[in-house]
Formats: sequence, structure tokens, C-alpha cells
Amino acid sequence: MSEPQIHHIVIAQEPGGPDVLACVERPRPVPGPGEVLIRNTACGVNRPDQIERLGFYPAPPGAPEGLGLEVSGHVAELGEGVTGLDVGEAVVALVAGGGYSEFVVAPEGSVLPAPKGLDLVDAAGLPETVFTVWANVFEIGALSPDETFLVHGGTSGIGTTAIQMAKAHGARVIATAGTPEKVELCRKLGADIAINYREEDFEAVVTEAGGADVILDMVGGPYVQKNINCARAGARLVSIAFLQGSRCELDLMRVMLKRITLTGSTLRARPVAEKARLAAAIKDTVWPWIEAGKVRPVIDSRFALTEAVSAHERLDSGEHSGKILLTC
Ligand SMILES: NC(=O)c1ccc[n+]([C@@H]2O[C@H](COP(=O)([O-])OP(=O)(O)OC[C@H]3O[C@@H](n4cnc5c(N)ncnc54)[C@H](OP(=O)(O)O)[C@@H]3O)[C@@H](O)[C@H]2O)c1
Repeated sequence: MSEPQIHHIVIAQEPGGPDVLACVERPRPVPGPGEVLIRNTACGVNRPDQIERLGFYPAPPGAPEGLGLEVSGHVAELGEGVTGLDVGEAVVALVAGGGYSEFVVAPEGSVLPAPKGLDLVDAAGLPETVFTVWANVFEIGALSPDETFLVHGGTSGIGTTAIQMAKAHGARVIATAGTPEKVELCRKLGADIAINYREEDFEAVVTEAGGADVILDMVGGPYVQKNINCARAGARLVSIAFLQGSRCELDLMRVMLKRITLTGSTLRARPVAEKARLAAAIKDTVWPWIEAGKVRPVIDSRFALTEAVSAHERLDSGEHSGKILLTC
């Protein structure tokens, strides 16, 4: 079947609210050497897309035009030298941009076969969160099955994935969230302890529970000292975002006395080879968890690609739990 020469992508026309998003026509992309053209079935909407829409998260050089960091779909065309995939194969991919589209080009190493037994639309919600959790909790944080893991934003796309992956690994999980419904969802996903941070002091609850060995933090600001205070000796505190600010005053005495590692990372700017290395590890470890039903994307809502404005209004509301998807 010959593919159309024109396709639609969603761009932010200028920095601003959801209504700066527009669905526009572009020539269908062509895969270069080592790249794969994907006809998208769906793409995931993530908090970093909101930050990019607001003008604070520029795409790395060479990224496809438009918003969107993850897709599911079928391989439409293979670039020169790509040998590990077949045209027509169902896949998911991490992309450095341009996921809100009908077609996107991805480096071969960032493409994974769609997990068996999972709806292909829902599978679009996997790459950004699974790669982020794997890189930060399992690699940098080096969570082991006999340890306690604390994740803030337990019902975010990242949080819902982190709770399930840490449980599948065998760890004890503590999660925080901001409403009783979100706390209940954390429990349903396997959290051993779920804390409503608006009603309880998470530092006191985690300390009472014996402390945390690995902490995945997207809040920053005043959470940093509180995380340090409730961390166990030898803990790793991994920052992936700063919803309450990236600046804070710290008493480093406890970092020294408890031998705590303060660290963090971003995914998008990592080199293609580094993402390929992560993908291979994820295929070996996380894909079997997904295919066994131990880890599932939690889907909040689906919108059509032409409804990207509504999808971002939902994202901005903060009322969502899990992933928002666009169907292409
Ligand atoms: N470094 C990286 O490589 C990387 C990659 C992907 C994502 N991220 C970051 O990870 C975070 C989660 O991404 P996502 O797409 O999963 O987001 P999301 O689904 O939109 O969820 C955001 C979460 O943040 C919580 N939240 C919002 N404001 C808060 C505040 N002031 N204090 C405490 N919690 C607050 C919300 O929970 P409540 O309603 O319970 O407060 C919600 O669960 C984002 O900040 C994103 O930028 C980083």
C-alpha cells in the first residue's frame, strides 16, 4: 500500500496555553540511514510536552518537528541499514519530538516491538514513562528487591509506571498523591503505603515505616530536605522534575551522615546510542513484566489527534490519573 505524501502533525504555534496547539499539514517524513518510519496508531501526552508548549523545554537539535515523545504504530518504511524490524510490524518508539503526528521517524534503537497482549493504542503510553523509570529507578537508583522505594506523584504517568515496575521487581513501595481517589489508585497499583500529602506529612509516615532506600522525586523545592530526612542510610534520591521549584536551602549534614546520593537525569537529551542501550535492557526485563500483566499502562483518557487542545486542557487540569493519549 502506498503511503500518503502529506500527513498531519501538532505544533505549538507560539509559547502559551493549550490553544496555541494547531494540527498542520507537512510532507510525510522519509527515514534516513538507521531510521524507521512509523505510521502512528497513537501517541502519549506527557508533562514535558506541556513544558515545551509553554516554551521552556526546547527540542534537542535534529528532533522531528512538533510535540510528542512516544508513539505506537506499524513500521511503514525502513531506512538504509535497518535490519532488526519488518515493514508492517507493530511497534512502540521513544522519539525526541514529533510524536503527535500521523507518521514519525525514529532511530532503530529507540523502537521496540509492541508488547504481546496489549492494545496498540494503550501501548503508546509506555515508552516515555518506562524508559524514564528504568533509567532513574533501576539504573541510577539501583533499586534492589529487598529495598523500599518512595515515589511522589504516584498517579502521574511516571508514578503509575514506577509503582508497578518496583512491585514487579519485588520492592516495597510507598507513594504520595493529592486526593483520596488518587491515593486509592496508588494502592490498587500495588503501593504498600499510599499517602495523601495534603492530609499527612509524608516525611513522618515514611520515617515511621522505616525510611526509603530509593526516592523518585518530581516535586523538588521543600520536598528535597524532607526526602533527605526520611531516607535510609545509603539511599539514592533521584530528581526528574521540580514541580515546586529547582531551588531550595538544604542542611547537608544528613547527606553526609547517612551517605545519601543526590542525583537526577533527563531522558530526551540522551544520545541515540544511550537510548538504544536502555531499550535493550527494557526489552529484556520490563517487556516480560508487561506481557505477564504485572505492568500495564494506566490510561486516563483518549483524544483524537485533532483534539490535542482538549488533551492539553486535561493535562493542565491536573485531574488526570495515568496517561492521556492521542489517536492518530
Ligand atoms: N527527567 C526526565 O527524564 C523526565 C521524563 C519524563 C517526565 N519527567 C517529569 O516527571 C513528572 C511527571 O511526568 P508525567 O508526564 O508523568 O506527569 P503527569 O502525569 O502530568 O503528573 C504530574 C504529577 O505531579 C503531581 N503534582 C503536580 N503539581 C504538584 C505539586 N505542586 N506538588 C506535588 N505534586 C504535584 C500530580 O499529582 P497530585 O495531583 O497528586 O499532586 C501529578 O501526579 C513531570 O514533572 C515531568 O516533567 C521527567
